[in-house]
Amino acid sequence: MLFFGGDYNPEQWPQEVWAEDVALMRQAGVTMVSLGVFAWSHLEPEEGRFTFDWLDRIMDLLHDGGIKVALATPTASPPPWFTLAHPEGLPVTADGVRLTHGSRDTYCVSAPAYRAAARRIAAELAGRYARHPALALWHVHNEYGTDCRCDLTAEAFRSWLRKKHGDLDALNESWTTAFWSQRYSDWAQIMPPRATQYLPNPAHVLDFRRFLSDELLGAFTEQRDLLRAASPVVPITTNFVQGGWVSVDHARWASEVDVVAVDHYPAAAGIEGEAETAFGGDLARGWAGGEWLLMETAPNLIYTPGRMHAKEPGRLTRHSLNYVARGSRGAMYFQWRQPRGGAELFHSALVPHAGPDSPVFREAVGLGRALKALAPHAGGTVEARVAVGWDAPSWWALQGGGLPAADIDYPAAVQQAHRALYRAGVATDFVFPGREGFGAGLTAYRIVVLPHLFLISDESAAALREFVAGGGHLVVGHLSGIADPAGRIRLGGYPGAFRDVLGVRVVEWRPLAPGTTIALDNGDQGVRWSERVETAGAETVVGYAGDVLAGAPAITRNRFGKGVAWYVSPGLDDDALRRLLERVAAEAGVTPVLPGLPPGVEAVRQGDLVFLFNHGGTPGMVPLPGPGSNAVTGRAVTGPVTVQPGGVLVWRPA
Ligand code: GLA
Repeated sequence: MLFFGGDYNPEQWPQEVWAEDVALMRQAGVTMVSLGVFAWSHLEPEEGRFTFDWLDRIMDLLHDGGIKVALATPTASPPPWFTLAHPEGLPVTADGVRLTHGSRDTYCVSAPAYRAAARRIAAELAGRYARHPALALWHVHNEYGTDCRCDLTAEAFRSWLRKKHGDLDALNESWTTAFWSQRYSDWAQIMPPRATQYLPNPAHVLDFRRFLSDELLGAFTEQRDLLRAASPVVPITTNFVQGGWVSVDHARWASEVDVVAVDHYPAAAGIEGEAETAFGGDLARGWAGGEWLLMETAPNLIYTPGRMHAKEPGRLTRHSLNYVARGSRGAMYFQWRQPRGGAELFHSALVPHAGPDSPVFREAVGLGRALKALAPHAGGTVEARVAVGWDAPSWWALQGGGLPAADIDYPAAVQQAHRALYRAGVATDFVFPGREGFGAGLTAYRIVVLPHLFLISDESAAALREFVAGGGHLVVGHLSGIADPAGRIRLGGYPGAFRDVLGVRVVEWRPLAPGTTIALDNGDQGVRWSERVETAGAETVVGYAGDVLAGAPAITRNRFGKGVAWYVSPGLDDDALRRLLERVAAEAGVTPVLPGLPPGVEAVRQGDLVFLFNHGGTPGMVPLPGPGSNAVTGRAVTGPVTVQPGGVLVWRPA
């Protein structure tokens, strides 16, 4: 089965609407809804008093309608009674402001009262619904990521630090506390990063984010374990969200969930949004190591600050099938029915304020049909011979102040590398240098690309060296391999972790002022960043042609063992990066998914299936590898085939 549905909040609606909801879900082919995500105050209106009657009724109604339930624990939004009874369970900001209820995610994950209340409501739900026939998945919490700097957090942080560093000498050394007289002589002196006079210690901030990831994971696993004990066969997940504020290392969390579930909201309008969709899908597949589930995306208007934009006709279908092509076991949305009020009252939904007589609902009905037809064929492996590195701690380390440029943007750098490969039509995976088994996993790839991989351990650097020595092709961008996992610089010339394999030594960074460029001797321009690079065995493929760097190496290539390692010192624009990666791919024998695609047409291969998406405005003629059929309609399709503008065709070989 492919899951199709979304967040469903019947508690926001009178019961008359419920029957209509189930009827419309059936009409659209909905197979599963996420229920109860923010329903805590409706399930436990006062401490210890539970009101499950309404949930019983809706679970039964959904079951009668043949619809499965991803039942949430509502712990992302404690009710007002909780915060009044347990004010220490409210989060405190870095400025020392204790927040109050009135929004969501207003809790301190380290507060024993919050944890106990969360376990209690989860256990009640587990006890009551573990055997309900509609239950298909436990959806723990919602988008873990809440941050708190209170005294309870301080205590938990100190215990985490004791486990990690053992003693204060080791911590002082790791954090370089000799700088600015920060030496700690007692654990009690260590606080969570709070508002301070000037720049904080970056190692302190980095460890706090790692701590928070583990602390939140502890909150997840304690709920998971009690749900598992109640219903050992029902899979358990929590929905991952990305964002600069999120202190969750999803690559590490992935092994703790039964299904990797991801919320993904591509924000860009037009063709840019397609590359973003592909990025989100490929990253999720990487976290999962295979199949995953798109738990939330916007059906229509995209809720971004500034101005929401609506999806063009066909885009909901294209986006959804794109996630499916990239390994999602379905497409779920935030949300089923657009609310009448509340903070997100204009967030789009499958059933909008206009009701089912609307373009979005009509498109959803068609999509439901397509997913049903596709379900028996989907689920094959997406194979890629190229991988891009992703590392949450490197992102965190590159968010601080005191960096050489204010516009250093980790996710943008990784997305750009992915986008260049996407535009080259090459299937791409992600690899995670901080994850166990990183080295062994590299054998699947011909090419590894590392943008802004600022932190790296000796072991992961050695694994990459071995990858190249064994015949792999490595592409390292600036700001990679600079520091150890504590954020201490690897001395002797950048990038300390990769100097030998790259055959270069960077002796000076020369970040470019916004809006300025530096000429390269192949006619391209460097953007954002330049450096003084010295070769130490590598050949110069492209040189700098401007500024004081004229004549110095910019892009280099080094033979190392049986493989090749490239160093890309300047920032490049999308076209220049695509051309470079196409050259690397050609040398490494990596070919596009389908050669000869017309502009705007994208191909994704999943097992035997080939998904063709036409994101352009004109019909696209696509050569196909042989006779086959349309996996959705069953009609025979032998190439070349025309994919209509804005359309999708899923081809299945005969
Ligand atoms: C997240 C949340 C949802 C909703 C959407 C809005 O993904 O899980 O509750 O707030 O964002 O886009």
